[in-house]
Amino acid sequence: MKHATLLAACVCAALASPLAAKDIQLPPDAVQLKPSPLPGYAKAQANCTMCHSAEYMRMQPPSAARPYWDAMVHRMKTVFKAPVADEDMPEIVDYLARTYGNEQPK
Ligand code: HEC
Repeated sequence: MKHATLLAACVCAALASPLAAKDIQLPPDAVQLKPSPLPGYAKAQANCTMCHSAEYMRMQPPSAARPYWDAMVHRMKTVFKAPVADEDMPEIVDYLARTYGNEQPK
């Protein structure tokens, strides 16, 4: 009888040990560009997210018109040396204006 009590005490102590699974929280993924069927989407993914996340696009005013985005893409290239090919710029600007600017579908 004594032995059984001792055994029970041991099992309880083992179960109470702090082996509970740790709750691991990963940081949220970096903000991704909004998906779009426009050809500029893939080009923006390839050219515009290696230095900063798409958070920067999302923070721009939704009233921003096409020339604003055009200037932005050119600024990224001339000021920050973004490796954007000149021929890719119109499609990237088109994607940005229609996805983040004032040409978004209502
Ligand atoms: C070579 C690195 C690099 C690449 C590639 C790049 N950017 Fe940037 N981008 C920057 C830096 C640096 C800033 C400025 C951060 C600041 O001013 O605080 C910035 C800022 C921005 C901003 C915030 C507004 C502003 O004027 O600061 C937007 C919008 C933006 N980039 C869009 C783009 C787009 C669109 C592309 C693709 C054509 C692109 N970026 C590619 C480096 C880059």
